[in-house]
Amino acid sequence: MCGIIGYCGINNAEDIIISGLHALEYRGYDSAGMTVFTQNGLKTIKTKGRVADLENKAKIMFLEPSGCGIGHTRWATHGKPSETNAHPHGTESVMIVHNGIIENYNEIKKFLSERGYGFLSETDTEVAAKLLDYEYKNEKDKIKAIINTVNQLKGSYAFGIVFKDEPGTVYGVKKDSPLLAGLSGQGNFIASDISAFLKYTGDYIRPEDGEIIRLTSDSVSVYGPEGSPVEKKAEKALWNSAAAEKSGFRHFMLKEIFEEPKVLNDTFDSITKDSYPDFSETIPDDSFFEGIGTIHIIACGTAMHAGLIGKHYIEKLARIPVNVEIASEFRYKDPILSKNDMVIVISQSGETADSLAALRLVNKMNIKTLSVVNTYGSTIARESSHVIYTKAGPEIAVASTKAFSVQAVVMLILALKLSEIQGRLTKEEILKISSSFKNMTKTSLHNVLCNTQNIERAAATTAKHQDVFFIGRGYDNYLGMEASLKLKEISYIHSEAYAAGELKHGTISLIEENTPVIAIATNKDFYEKMRSNIEEVRSRGAYVISICTENADIIKNVSDAVMTIPDDDEFSKPFTAAAVIQLFAYYGALALGRDIDKPRNLAKSVTVE
Ligand code: AGP
Repeated sequence: MCGIIGYCGINNAEDIIISGLHALEYRGYDSAGMTVFTQNGLKTIKTKGRVADLENKAKIMFLEPSGCGIGHTRWATHGKPSETNAHPHGTESVMIVHNGIIENYNEIKKFLSERGYGFLSETDTEVAAKLLDYEYKNEKDKIKAIINTVNQLKGSYAFGIVFKDEPGTVYGVKKDSPLLAGLSGQGNFIASDISAFLKYTGDYIRPEDGEIIRLTSDSVSVYGPEGSPVEKKAEKALWNSAAAEKSGFRHFMLKEIFEEPKVLNDTFDSITKDSYPDFSETIPDDSFFEGIGTIHIIACGTAMHAGLIGKHYIEKLARIPVNVEIASEFRYKDPILSKNDMVIVISQSGETADSLAALRLVNKMNIKTLSVVNTYGSTIARESSHVIYTKAGPEIAVASTKAFSVQAVVMLILALKLSEIQGRLTKEEILKISSSFKNMTKTSLHNVLCNTQNIERAAATTAKHQDVFFIGRGYDNYLGMEASLKLKEISYIHSEAYAAGELKHGTISLIEENTPVIAIATNKDFYEKMRSNIEEVRSRGAYVISICTENADIIKNVSDAVMTIPDDDEFSKPFTAAAVIQLFAYYGALALGRDIDKPRNLAKSVTVE
């Protein structure tokens, strides 16, 4: 997944492109580049490293002011991060930037090599660029050349394209990768997502796969996959650019954790009426929730862990069996689904390639699908039969925090809705649980966020180690899995999450003197068992830090250190415990001086397989 941007307008394209690439850098940040129109044709600057490095290089290379160009920030898929492999790629006549993967690039490369083309980089993108060059030389018509080119490509792409012989014009075309066109009085944009031009305009159009965008400083035209003009309706962004800024926090990740009370309430309010489940904003007919056999929750990474929390809620409250599946496994396992099952796809970005592919597989099986998505109008949202939008606002940090928490509250309210449909809980019981949740967000969660000293201390202690273990039972085990992912992805400390009862079946052999073990023990049902598990590892030298409620002396008395949460309703505790594990990872990474918002090797939206 990479970030692409194109601009044509009255401002200096270099500034607009650099600014847009900074906003897109969460999508990939191992190399960057841009091409702009100058008096002497197309000028390209590329660099290994961050957008800031490109910005510095551009200052040195004195790019003359230009009103039009394209830019790219890369997460390497084909070929290591390097200046040569950085985008844009192309020839003297045409340059492109690309987000996606061209699966048949080797065959095309052979075809072009036989026709005299040479290649400088290891990328699939350069092959696509030279195929377009070849087609344009034959067709002499840009729209036809683009159509001929993309019709030969297998895989995913969002392209930004400039032709030397058409100054002041940028083309765009996509398939499976995201692409938007931004419309403003100061010029027009294409970009991988709205954050690249949100500070200039909130007005945009969203092309479908195969539609070609042609933009100039004062026009945006769209052509269908066969080349005929298409009318597109402009949409308006739901977010403003302030929401995408750090607002004084040291990192986006910390800001986004501290936004949880607000975004949890915003999400809760959007799917309840007087605290009672109400999904009518996007699901007007309750019959959608009736007669469900098994629920299959499909997602990746943190979203999959939110699915596990959903499993806990739905099985506990509605007694409907739930399978949680990793999307990249589900899509290749020839899944066994029944006609009255429901598939739920959870995705913050709504563009994750594996989750989208799993959804498309299920759509072919005529099974009802529901997506839980944070990005309005994203592909997964548009291709599922129903969608529930979370209201987390833009999540910029690569490590997902507030998105996880709002996904979990959707799962809780969905579980309450299903329990009502199943006739399992009375209205009073449902209201008790949902009101407790609402209260937690206004009291306990603030309490945790404003008393982080124990978390910071525990994190700093743990940061000295290279191997950390998380243990828990039931939903605490699922929280341990999320805690482990968070810690690994931003601090680079190796960690594993284990069902506490499972550790003694092998992995306990890894426990030695001072091995940090984080015991997540917030569920009263398991206090006795968790105390035994804590004693098992401590007797082998482990240093145990427990996450438990303030009054859980049975756990505190056998722990070396504790990070406590208020003793709320059992269905609310996962949210305060989640804030603790997110802060624990944050302060661990901070202690190690990591690049917290943009960890190495990662990107925010994994739109490639
Ligand atoms: C979470 O911290 C990671 N950034 C990653 O696991 C992420 O949750 C996963 O890639 C799924 O992304 P999505 O929610 O946008 O589909």
